[in-house]
Amino acid sequence: MPVDNTITPKDCVSRLVPYSPGKPIAEVQREYGLTDIDKMASNENPLGPSPRAIAAITKAVGAIHHYPDATSHDLRHALAEKKGLPVESVIVGNGGDELIQLLGITFLRPGDRMIMSLPSFVRYEAAGILNEAEVVKVPVRDFKEDLDAVADRINDRTRIVFVNNPNNPTGTINTRDAVTRLLDRIPPGTLVMLDEAYAEFVEDPDYPNSVDYVKEGRNVIVLHTFSKIYGLAGVRLGYCLARPDIIDNMNRVREPFNVNVLAQVAGIAALDDDDHVRNTLKVNSEGKRYLEREFERLGLPYAKAEANFILVDVLRECRPVYEGLLRKGVIVRTGDIFGMPTCLRVSIGTPPMNERFIRELEAILKG
Ligand SMILES: Cc1ncc(COP(=O)(O)O)c(C=O)c1O
Repeated sequence: MPVDNTITPKDCVSRLVPYSPGKPIAEVQREYGLTDIDKMASNENPLGPSPRAIAAITKAVGAIHHYPDATSHDLRHALAEKKGLPVESVIVGNGGDELIQLLGITFLRPGDRMIMSLPSFVRYEAAGILNEAEVVKVPVRDFKEDLDAVADRINDRTRIVFVNNPNNPTGTINTRDAVTRLLDRIPPGTLVMLDEAYAEFVEDPDYPNSVDYVKEGRNVIVLHTFSKIYGLAGVRLGYCLARPDIIDNMNRVREPFNVNVLAQVAGIAALDDDDHVRNTLKVNSEGKRYLEREFERLGLPYAKAEANFILVDVLRECRPVYEGLLRKGVIVRTGDIFGMPTCLRVSIGTPPMNERFIRELEAILKG
């Protein structure tokens, strides 16, 4: 008699969709026999890591036989000082991704409602599904998160509202007024995650300073990452800022050694790397203007980006355009995975990367 040896997961696991990351450079090299690849698919820093972080990692690497400091004491103190908050208001994680999952595990009960925008960062939905919550998706309007419509969907079961500002994949922001209006409608018992993974790139003066919401004692948790502006996506480091009671609950659930030795020292060093931040912002701002001008010349609509990527409508099915770019060694992201089948999301690169992307895109569109 054959034995049924199937190990059955929890019901919600079968509803989880594995994350589809930007195609890695090595894979494109293998598949297309190319050597010179530009990855403009994962909103990484095109200048590379913070040099100060590289130096700190090099110095610390001989100590990796030790467990990391389980409290990330120095890193959390550095963050608290920089943000003007008590250290009890800071939690760090193995990337922002871990903190989104931790938030869900800590606060979502089966049957609770969580609200997010469509399209927005897909990991919010995973946090909802994993915890058997009802996931409500509110469509963006003119590429922007519609926070009034989000507020309209809050009911007495709503535990978490995700606001992604700037929103990935559209790159647009909501202003201080719009965010405050939403927060003013948040009932007790509902927590708003303000995911600001791209905050440092925002140029619009009406963008909120979300630390103020934390200082006011509101039901908010602000998420930031070292993956973008500091160029540390590979070591995995993110942090959240919130009232100490919110952080305390997440700390009970957190894995003790969730942030590794190298990420901790890299984070502290990167926070002080003003030159790298300044250079990154300059390259991003100039690259954004260049790409916007070129999209206008090519007659392609695009969303007004306040991040380090732009969503552009190529006015035809995006997959063949994406594949044409891949064959030429340029990796971008297709909009079909976000429900925008004629769009591409392109990370802003250095001038040579941006020019190569436009050259190849134009050849494909005219070809
Ligand atoms: C909107 C948003 N939030 C959070 C993250 C998580 O970043 P990480 O896990 O690299 O810190 C990302 C990564 O791309 C993102 O786009």
